[in-house]
Amino acid sequence: MDFKEYILSLILEQNPESILDIACCTGHYVRKLRESGWSGEYTGVDITRNFIEKAKELSPEEEFILGDARSISMDRKYDMVLLLGVIMHLDDYASAMDNAFEMSSNKVIVMTYATKLGYTYCKENGGMLNRYFTEEDIVKESPDGWSVERVEKFHGSRDRWVVVFDARN
Ligand SMILES: C[S@@+](CC[C@H](N)C(=O)[O-])C[C@H]1O[C@@H](n2cnc3c(N)ncnc32)[C@H](O)[C@@H]1O
Repeated sequence: MDFKEYILSLILEQNPESILDIACCTGHYVRKLRESGWSGEYTGVDITRNFIEKAKELSPEEEFILGDARSISMDRKYDMVLLLGVIMHLDDYASAMDNAFEMSSNKVIVMTYATKLGYTYCKENGGMLNRYFTEEDIVKESPDGWSVERVEKFHGSRDRWVVVFDARN
């Protein structure tokens, strides 16, 4: 199973009623979710205008919004918030995580890079920051009222953490 299939199966297993997909890129996850029969409400957010325009072109029936993970706020909550493949690129990743928890009523799924070396910084991908996280780095961001339901290390071209946070009842 490749990484995207793994994420899809994780989302479908939870069967959320609504998803906020922060850093949705061109919306590839929602198309796969629809192909798999998921029929919940979806909103995708990304900071890159071209990606949002492409996402709207490819999936005109879905909602896509131009926005910054660190500052976006919605006037509603979502059953599940996805923060996949973005916090490694952000200096201020804690703000993005705070926002994700704020906009979720049930689950937050975070994916980021992992390494045994802890924090390391390097410039690649055209100068984007790539930060590596330890398990503790992510788990400690869990706010009061939330628990860590699952932490998995996915081994691939890069090792990645996938963490599922759950709002305690
Ligand atoms: C590596 S891609 C991940 C895409 C998708 N979430 C996935 O997991 O396949 C990183 C995405 O983060 C977006 N991005 C970077 N900084 C962002 C920010 N501050 N707020 C929202 N999106 C951001 C980029 O435009 C890009 O679409």
